[in-house]
Order: sequence, then structure tokens, then C-alpha cells
Amino acid sequence: MTKTDLAIIGGGPGGYVCAIRAAQLGLEVTLVEEKALGGTCLNWGCIPTKALFSATKLLSQAAEAQTIGITYASPSIDLKKLASWKDQVVGTLVGGIETLMSKSSIDVIRARGTLAGDGRVALSTGAELSADHIVIATGSDTVQIPTFPFDHPAIWSSDDALALTEIPERLAIIGGGVIGLELATIYNRLGSRVLVIELLPEVLSTVDLDRRTISTLKHSLAKNGINVLTNTAAESFKQQGEDVILRTADGTEHVVDRILVAVGRRPKTQDLGLAACGVEVDKRGFIRVDDALQTTAPHIYAIGDAVLGPMLAHKASSDGIRVAETLAGNASHALDFDFVPQAIFTDPEIASVGLSEAKAKASGQEILIGRFPFAALGKALGMREPEGFFQIIADSENHRILGVQIIGAEASDLISEAAVAVHSDLTLEAIADAIHPHPTLPEGLKEAAENALGRAIHTVNR
Ligand code: NAI
Repeated sequence: MTKTDLAIIGGGPGGYVCAIRAAQLGLEVTLVEEKALGGTCLNWGCIPTKALFSATKLLSQAAEAQTIGITYASPSIDLKKLASWKDQVVGTLVGGIETLMSKSSIDVIRARGTLAGDGRVALSTGAELSADHIVIATGSDTVQIPTFPFDHPAIWSSDDALALTEIPERLAIIGGGVIGLELATIYNRLGSRVLVIELLPEVLSTVDLDRRTISTLKHSLAKNGINVLTNTAAESFKQQGEDVILRTADGTEHVVDRILVAVGRRPKTQDLGLAACGVEVDKRGFIRVDDALQTTAPHIYAIGDAVLGPMLAHKASSDGIRVAETLAGNASHALDFDFVPQAIFTDPEIASVGLSEAKAKASGQEILIGRFPFAALGKALGMREPEGFFQIIADSENHRILGVQIIGAEASDLISEAAVAVHSDLTLEAIADAIHPHPTLPEGLKEAAENALGRAIHTVNR
């Protein structure tokens, strides 16, 4: 039996990052992965989505260019070529992780791993590993709706949508969450007529966003021709010749070509041998962990989507690093989920970190709020991206920045300055007084901070 210091089950952004940091800290590490390194994020999630988000942006830009006097022939899409380019981007990054693994002397075993008790991991190859510590980083799986089974050719999971095999003329998306709206954006740009069906009264309700952010997004979705039905439950479907008829709970029938189901993800913690090893899960299947991410069994840790918290790649990586540091004897603090930034690739993009206005007010805190519109930023106008705004919230007494929301062009990149500010307890003055280069988009955050302080230059002060 092979013996190792640390066995990690799952090679996504939680597991592989944990492996690298643990190896840097001197541990002998074995990583067990049954599919491709990089996990869902790299192979079937974040990376292919962002590749297609940027590629399809060219289509919407080409369509708009004539308004500024530049005309192209109408763009055509070679779907096979687009899919193969996207696969190439993924392949390059997967190859990069493989190289990092071998350069870090991490042993990668291609197999499914399960807990076998007494510090052992059973491998689907029939072999076993023995480890001083085990990290479970098995990620999450798509939630299915029984009446919309993924094995029917008309029903798509997000993996099917990202495989890019066809552009349906009419696409219904069940779930107005993050995945639903990101894929709605991509397929809308590719030319599909998109209908989003959301059960709750509002889209993106699992993300802590203020009403103003959501209403700006809804305005853009409508302007781009994405039809959103809220308070609506998708009930059943039937194939009628070439058409797919989707029936909602109110009895309405929608005629479409494909139905994408994006109603959430759940932890992949079944059939791992957890119970037999004393690893407890909650009723939704999330592994119970303490502040140091240790499970209810000694020497077994769990990270990423397998434990409760934001299902985000960068949160999983942060978990992985914390466990590696803990095993090396370094102190680890519990992660405050409120301060995990999030970036959503809709049109316009949305990004947030820290508290929303609603959450800050609900906590009874006295706050200052500053806002700045993209429409007042020279760079944004030059980019033909006037939609959206920056919003900054701070403690009214000590001016410490509590939260930032940005909806607008490149919000996913712009949020990092705010993430540093929130993480480092910076004040409004720290952002407002720092000279930001002109003309750039990050000036919007500085202007929002100035606005909160009542000394904005390019907008009326509150
Ligand atoms: P989600 O939880 O964000 O949204 C699912 C939506 O489906 C909810 O709004 C829910 O009310 C709705 N729904 C459920 N059953 C329904 C039904 N029968 N009919 C109509 N609507 C129904 O889940 P999603 O979008 O699948 O994403 C999964 C996880 O992955 C989330 O935690 C998300 O944050 C994360 N993720 C994050 C990304 C990012 O930050 N850019 C990208 C992709 C995923």
C-alpha cells in the first residue's frame, strides 16, 4: 500500500490548490482525480463560460459598430471552430495544472477515491492509499428536476450548453440564477430567442444584490431581448414533432427547441464512505466542518463545494490553502463568507464584495453610501458601455468600507480593488485619496468613495 502525508480526493480548484500549497510546505501529497484536473470550474464551468462570454461579445459589438460609423458584413458563426477554440483554452489550462503537479512532485492518481477507514483511501483501480491526513474536495453536481431528465435529447444541463453542439432557435432556461443568466447571455448573443423561467419573485435571488443592481440588470436583459418570467414554476414538457412544449404551473405552454435546466448545484458527497468513517453531513449533503475545515472525523478535512458556503472556485482555493497551512501548523481563521467576492458574467457584468446596502441596514449599522454611474466615466463612454454604476458602502463613523457592488463593463475585474479594500479594512479616504489614472474604469470606484464622503467632483453629491 502506498503511504503519503496527505491524500486529496478531487482535483478541482479546491483540491489542486491545496495540493500545491501543501507540497510547498513540505508535505508529501497524493491527489486522486477520476476526471480531468481543474474540476468543474476549468472543464465545464467558469473557464468555458468566460471563453464563450468574451467570444460572443464580439457578435454584439459587431452589431452595434454601425452606430459609430463602422460597418462589417454580418458576422457568421462557425460553431465547430468556436467550440474547438474554447476546448483549446480549457486544454491549455488543464495542461498547465498537470505541469504544476509534476513540478511540485505531487503524485496524481487517475481513479475514483473513497474513504476506507483508518486513514485509507480506496481507489477504483483496486489499490489503496494510506495517508496521515485526507482532504475531501469532491465538488458539486447539477441538481436535476425529475420531470426534465438530462438523458432526453431536448433537455440540456449546463455541460450540454457549454459543449456548443448547436444554437437552438428557441431556448428555454429553467432557473434565473447565476448559471441560467450567464448562459442566457451567451445564447442570446449567438442568436437564440431566450426565455428564462424563474420560480422565485426575482432573478439572482441566491446572491446578495441590492434592488437597484437587479433592476439595472433586468432592464438590460429586456433590452437585449431576453424574456424573463418570474414567480413561474416549470412543470413538464413534451416533444411534439420538432417542437418541445414546456408547460408552466399556471398552465401556459411555451414552444421551444431546447430546455436548459440550471436550478442549482448540490455537494458531491454521496457514496464516498463518509458515514462509516464518522464524517457527518447535513440534510442537504454538505459535509460538516469546524472553523479549520476539519470534519467530524479526526485527520479528515473537507473544502470547496462539498462544504456549506458560496459555491465559487476562488472560495474553494482559499479553503484549500487554509487546510494546507493548518496541516503545516500555521494558524487559520474562519472565512467570513460575506467577504468572498463574486463576479457574474451577464451583460452588463455584476460583481460584489462585502455587505449589500440591504444587509448593512438590516444589521442596524449606520452607513454612508456613494454611487457613481458608468455614464459619467469618459472611458466607459469611449467603450460604448454607459450602463451601470458603482456603489460603495461604509461605516458612517470610521468610514471603513463594508461593501461594494458594481454593475457595468468589466465589473468582474473592477471588483478586485474593492476586495482588497474590504479585506484590509480600508476606509473611503483610502480609495478617494489614491490617485487613479485617467481615463480608466476604476476611476468609478474612487468617484463613488468621494460621493459617499460628499466631495465628488464629477457627480452631484448626496
Ligand atoms: P442558483 O442557486 O444560482 O440558481 C438556481 C435558480 O433556479 C434559483 O433562482 C431557483 O429559484 C430556480 N429554480 C429552482 N427550481 C426551479 C423550477 N422548478 N422552475 C424555475 N426555477 C427554479 O444555481 P445555479 O445558477 O445553478 O448555480 C449553481 C451554483 O454555482 C451557485 O451557487 C452559483 O453561485 C455557482 N456559480 C457561480 C458562478 C459565478 O459566480 N460566476 C458561475 C456559475 C455557477
